[in-house]
Amino acid sequence: MTQDELKQAVARAAADYVAQTAPAGSIVGVGTGSTANFFIDALAKIKDRYAGAVASSEVTRLRLERHGIKVFDLNDVTDIPVYVDGADEIDAGLNMIKGGGGALTREKIVAAVAREFVCICDASKLVDVMGRFPLPVEVIPMARAHVARELVKLGGQPVLREGFVTDNGNVILDVKGLSITDPKDLEAQINQITGVVTNGLFAVRPANLLLLGTADGVRSMR
Ligand code: 5RP
Repeated sequence: MTQDELKQAVARAAADYVAQTAPAGSIVGVGTGSTANFFIDALAKIKDRYAGAVASSEVTRLRLERHGIKVFDLNDVTDIPVYVDGADEIDAGLNMIKGGGGALTREKIVAAVAREFVCICDASKLVDVMGRFPLPVEVIPMARAHVARELVKLGGQPVLREGFVTDNGNVILDVKGLSITDPKDLEAQINQITGVVTNGLFAVRPANLLLLGTADGVRSMR
């Protein structure tokens, strides 16, 4: 199976899971990225059961709207039973690195509101210890150099994502070389640097369920 076929399989499994667990008329949280795109396509087939969705990026909003799925402003929504999104890396504790697509801040906000986070990945994303994928950090532009110096003190090698501006008008530093043995602690430490909007560690609020696409089928991990 190709990587795309694995992503499609987990996306379909996630849509089945949403159909079984999210009450009719509710609002579904939708992530960003190629795996999330396959999920949007699968969600479109069952869209009439739901009031609509909350999008974690402008790209996702456009794709949902193209499928005729109503997109709500998060400020008008009090309950999201389930949020479905991909990840760049995930460990056995369901801690994740996200933000390869640059949508980490909105993803973290929607995830914070959601009752359940379902992560959908192909098997290559499951790792013993996170950190091979550079950690994305969203930064207020005027703080870029200051934040970069602070990240070096934490042992990282930050690199500006050239030519990229987030949906919130900020920049991204991709940080290589971090030792992520305590993801929750590192997430908090980086978020305390003045000028950081948020970082791509999702450990304070990890996933609740991982649907992992493998050559032998979709594996569920809690
Ligand atoms: C975007 C993300 C994505 O979930 C992550 O990059 C995985 O993307 P893909 O499904 O394309 O591998 O965090 O900000």
